[in-house]
Amino acid sequence: MTSLPRNLLCLIFLGGIASSISFTNYVERENVISWCTTSKEEQRKCQHLSMVVERDYRDFRDDFLQVQCKQAFNKDDCMTLLDEEKAHITLVDAGEVFVGGRYHSLVPIMQERLIGGQKFYYAVAVVKRGTLLDVSHISHLRGKSACFAGVGTQAGWVLPVYNMMQFGGMQVIDCNNHVKSTINFFGPSCAVNSLIDKYNPIGDNSDRLCELCTGKVPGGKCTNADPYAGFEGAFRCLVEKGDIAFLKHTTVAEMTSTSFDFSGVKKDNFELLCMDGTRRAIDDYRSCNWGPVQSHAIVTTSAKTVETRRTYQNFLMRVVQLYGRRNSTGPFNPQDPFSNPANRDQFNNDPFYNNNFNQSGGPPPLPDPYRPYNQPPPGNYDPRRPIKRQARDTDKPKEKRQIPALPPRQTSYDPQDQFYTGPSNDEYRPPARHEEFDLFHSAPRYGLHRNLLLNDNVEDLIALDETFQNYESYLGPALKQILGVRQCPVNRMTLCVTSKPEMDKCVKMRTALKAQLLKPEMVCTKGHSHIDCMEQIRAGKADVAVLDASDVYTGGVRYDLVPFISEVYNLGQPEYYVVAVAKEQDPTTELTFLKGKYTCHTGMSTAAGWVIPMAYLMSNGWIRSYGCDSVRTAAEYFGKSCIPGALSSEYNTGVPYDNMCDLCHGTSSSYCRRDASEDFYGFTGALRCLVEGGGDVAFVKHTTIAEVSDGKRDEWWARNALSGDFELLCPDGRRMNPQDYKNCNLGKAKANAIVTRGGEGYNETEISAYINLFIYAQQFYGRRDTDEFSFSLFYSQPPYSDLIFQDATQQLYVLNYTQQHYAKYLGKDFLRARRIVDCHAGASSLTTGAFAIVISTTIALLISHS
Ligand SMILES: *[C@@H]1O[C@H](CO)[C@@H](O)[C@H](O)[C@H]1NC(C)=O
Ligand SMILES: *[C@@H]1O[C@H](CO)[C@@H](O)[C@H](O)[C@H]1NC(C)=O
Ligand SMILES: *[C@@H]1O[C@H](CO)[C@@H](O)[C@H](O)[C@H]1NC(C)=O
Ligand SMILES: *[C@@H]1O[C@H](CO)[C@@H](O)[C@H](O)[C@H]1NC(C)=O
Repeated sequence: MTSLPRNLLCLIFLGGIASSISFTNYVERENVISWCTTSKEEQRKCQHLSMVVERDYRDFRDDFLQVQCKQAFNKDDCMTLLDEEKAHITLVDAGEVFVGGRYHSLVPIMQERLIGGQKFYYAVAVVKRGTLLDVSHISHLRGKSACFAGVGTQAGWVLPVYNMMQFGGMQVIDCNNHVKSTINFFGPSCAVNSLIDKYNPIGDNSDRLCELCTGKVPGGKCTNADPYAGFEGAFRCLVEKGDIAFLKHTTVAEMTSTSFDFSGVKKDNFELLCMDGTRRAIDDYRSCNWGPVQSHAIVTTSAKTVETRRTYQNFLMRVVQLYGRRNSTGPFNPQDPFSNPANRDQFNNDPFYNNNFNQSGGPPPLPDPYRPYNQPPPGNYDPRRPIKRQARDTDKPKEKRQIPALPPRQTSYDPQDQFYTGPSNDEYRPPARHEEFDLFHSAPRYGLHRNLLLNDNVEDLIALDETFQNYESYLGPALKQILGVRQCPVNRMTLCVTSKPEMDKCVKMRTALKAQLLKPEMVCTKGHSHIDCMEQIRAGKADVAVLDASDVYTGGVRYDLVPFISEVYNLGQPEYYVVAVAKEQDPTTELTFLKGKYTCHTGMSTAAGWVIPMAYLMSNGWIRSYGCDSVRTAAEYFGKSCIPGALSSEYNTGVPYDNMCDLCHGTSSSYCRRDASEDFYGFTGALRCLVEGGGDVAFVKHTTIAEVSDGKRDEWWARNALSGDFELLCPDGRRMNPQDYKNCNLGKAKANAIVTRGGEGYNETEISAYINLFIYAQQFYGRRDTDEFSFSLFYSQPPYSDLIFQDATQQLYVLNYTQQHYAKYLGKDFLRARRIVDCHAGASSLTTGAFAIVISTTIALLISHS
């Protein structure tokens, strides 16, 4: 190999590309089954299978399929390939059946039946004999070095983590990333794939669960290529470095039965750690295990028709008939009850069929978990009629369909073995065409890996009935453990919204979060106003709401609510500029003389639409003021307005003035409502009021014009709006382009924030769970490009805008503990502004006059700084 000239290598490489291209087309053809493999050893065995199937195609009669072999990087890759129909089948363990079903629409079609007839094995915890003497309870495993088969595997991850959470004191660290709970509990360990996206969505996992792994960087460490990957790898990890390994009950016997893995390592060197903290011999797994696990399954995509799945099943059953003849003294240790036929009868305490299942300590026995889901118990099994292989020419079947022409040899089997790479393969000899193929034998024939394509200790594949071809039926009660490791101390989070369009978005959001299994579960409730939502949150009927800065103030003062997450727009900080917008064609409107003008406001008592502009106008004496009664001030000074909420006693505690809603656009009950049902509510609504409602000035945030104009929105009122049609009114009397908001604004307001219960009701556990949920929600749904089929947090279905979250939001910002208070969050300037416009705002011993001076200085300072 090494002596090959460079250009020949180059040719081989190009050939590889060419064959992988033709391969892609090939898979689409009928009568081909593509097996996804995850190692070069498995690929070799698959290629051997492909060759013998091709050679013996007559024996398959109508069930013939050509075998293609597709090597992927790991099982996760395989699942993606299956999902994309670039490969057809692969073998997965029970935990992976869940992952495949939940995230990749894969369905199990065949289940392994192990030697002895049972369709399950036990998860066990193995330690070196005489070690870990300080561990007499599983909670003492804290800080130890653990060897897991890989994140997501049932026996090698889910059951240990579940049991440690239930009985070993492992705390839930992150409701949406159970890997972190394990990281927090154990010391340096090895659990391959603990850093892949699926198990590390935010990307903030520490490498604690990779520290013990031994693969080479890059690519080989903590991945399926790591020598410590899988059950064999976890055992290797235990022998060489770890304190404890989570294995199948067969792994130790398997790995110590031959000498090519380890010489001098014997089964007796190890013992089981039971869930009650005691030790037993390796063979006592029936009384000392961490739970039963369904045997592995072959999965395909649910996109395959029932007929195609049946084709696969029939083919695989033929493969077992032809190449799966069990030799009872075969490669397995006769001491192992699983491979010793003498023990088969006594092995009838199948936990999935039998109530007598007994464990030492730990969870109560599973009540007859699998019987309804599966085939009849072993014993009643009706063996299929074998096919005589010798009869191939005389016994030629009447073919119902044409056996397809065979493809070029090298696409299905390459005797040059292009995966030959490392020195450990020196022993590998590609099989000859006549060579027998043993389906249930792997090492050392194809390299040093066992359990290739199928597990070596299997005697048959059972076709799953169509109605059981889904992960729920296959897993049955085992789902409890799989979902159990994803538990969260907080069950639900109720989001309070204020309008039907927001409710619709909330329900979509809930569905989207559920699709990613995000916790806590979100629930939506509709309050009749923001104030109502605040009340519901204080009363515990709702948990969170997204509020305008001024509502954060109201919620804090009157309802003890605290902000804990804020939005960030394009300034990098959770704040925005409040701007006054006029039409470019209307030069008569100026900030200093708005008497009789028509004004558009985002809402009564909102930061940008009310508090900041009114405080500004009042404190500078540019509007005739009635003390802190800003409602009267506005009503008597402006001509007409749209101030959504101005007629509601919840927001306007003074006298309602009709002209404050005159410009509003909502029909009947939504007229002048302070929610998305009023067309002129909110930032976009206020600008729309300026464009089509007759307004002279609109008070909005600095992003609003850009969000609406220059073709950003399709609604007819916005379709022809250009940003050049608008101008900002500056405090110094000048006008500026909308882009110049930094030099022409009324001050900054804090961004909208998510609030929850504070004061007596403050619960840190709940707040961290809510924060966690929003952070993961943002990770999965924070992208801004969206279409009608995908959900995006920061997008609102037209004609609406700013539903729940502002559409201008670029990210969510978590407020630390010190900032979780309305006054800390809003800052002194806003508090002063609010007191200027609101006679009921907080207790104040200062006179309004004194305030006016303070605020005008402050705002002047603010402006000169910005
Ligand atoms: C089983 O295999 C062994 C060696 O692998 C062989 O000697 C024996 O004859 C085989 N038994 C049967 C029944 O095929
Ligand atoms: C389970 O084990 C306990 C003690 O190990 C024993 O007393 C009990 O009878 C067993 N139960 C069953 C159903 O086998
Ligand atoms: C905080 O909330 C959690 C989950 O809702 C609850 O179990 C816990 O008792 C609460 N803590 C306090 C101090 O109320
Ligand atoms: C909280 O955040 C503020 C603003 O970012 C920062 O000044 C303060 O130091 C932080 N406090 C803590 C305890 O992290």
